[in-house]
Amino acid sequence: MLTISQYRDAFLEHLEKKVKTKEPVNLYKPITYILNLGGKRLRPVLVLMSAEIFDTSYEKALDAALAIEVFHNFSLVHDDIMDAAPLRRGQETVHERWDLNTGILSGDAMLINAYQLFENYDGKVFKELAQLFTKTAIQVCEGQQYDIDFESRDDVEIADYLKMIEYKTAVLVGASLQMGAIIAETTPECKKALFEYGRLLGIAFQLQDDYLDAFGDPETFGKQSGGDIIENKKTFLYLTALKKATAVEALQLEHLYSINPRESSAKIEAVKNIFETSGASELARKEIEKYTNEAFEVLKNLEIPEDKKTLLYSFGTSLINRKV
Ligand code: IPE
Ligand code: IPE
Ligand code: MG
Ligand code: MG
Ligand code: MG
Repeated sequence: MLTISQYRDAFLEHLEKKVKTKEPVNLYKPITYILNLGGKRLRPVLVLMSAEIFDTSYEKALDAALAIEVFHNFSLVHDDIMDAAPLRRGQETVHERWDLNTGILSGDAMLINAYQLFENYDGKVFKELAQLFTKTAIQVCEGQQYDIDFESRDDVEIADYLKMIEYKTAVLVGASLQMGAIIAETTPECKKALFEYGRLLGIAFQLQDDYLDAFGDPETFGKQSGGDIIENKKTFLYLTALKKATAVEALQLEHLYSINPRESSAKIEAVKNIFETSGASELARKEIEKYTNEAFEVLKNLEIPEDKKTLLYSFGTSLINRKV
């Protein structure tokens, strides 16, 4: 087994080799731009790591890892259009740097390219990868639609929010791990356990993303600070604050989420203040921990050597402590 950063390096080398700007440049330039903008590369690392956990060389998993990262970046290009986001990884988003049509079409091409990368697998492995990818990709779309629907709905419950983030984010983390297991042709039980570990970790990951959107350092987080508040996103923080705040503060919060001021800093500060005083921000931290621990529970029953388990534990722990 390699370390997480060695898997990342191996992945980056593969990315550099396979993703090039070609004609028409206006289609491919935004693709190389977003794919080379950095990012944590969590999902491809999970694909590679998972193959090796089941004694298969990570090299066999490189194309699936690339497919997952290309798909993830496609989803970000379109997500940034939907969320009207100006910044991604500390740089301009694709639709800001180019325009809306460029974001749409380059995103489409990336989605297709992701599918194409699975053509490098044969037989049963190909079929399983393609089936898992299709199922996951459609769930991501469903999650993204819920996310947008919730902006203008006022009856969203925490359970709805959890389902939404499971679909838009967590299933792709689960699928990344499952793909490594598929390539290694391990048992159905192991494939399922790896997916489940990733799904639970993915829920913690999106809770954390929402937390950092409000409370992270914009320098390291690389996205517009308070972007979710500007867009009136019904996050765990918001839904919990509504339940836990005083009646006066809850009304104030609902009011703040019904206005869209041109200058948003006062709204962001007021909302964050209620997230803190209501105890919602602390409860969000607890929820992140809860899902991470649930993910670790899945590992307990997984029959793999201890040193391999340790790598999965330390991956989970590093996510809780992340600032980016
Ligand atoms: C951002 O994902 C979108 C979410 C699901 C929260 P990441 O935080 O993994 O983004 P990068 O690829 O590291 O920039
Ligand atoms: C994004 O959720 C999930 C997908 C891209 C599918 P967010 O909208 O919270 O992601 P960021 O914060 O823009 O990265
Ligand atoms: Mg977004
Ligand atoms: Mg979004
Ligand atoms: Mg976010």
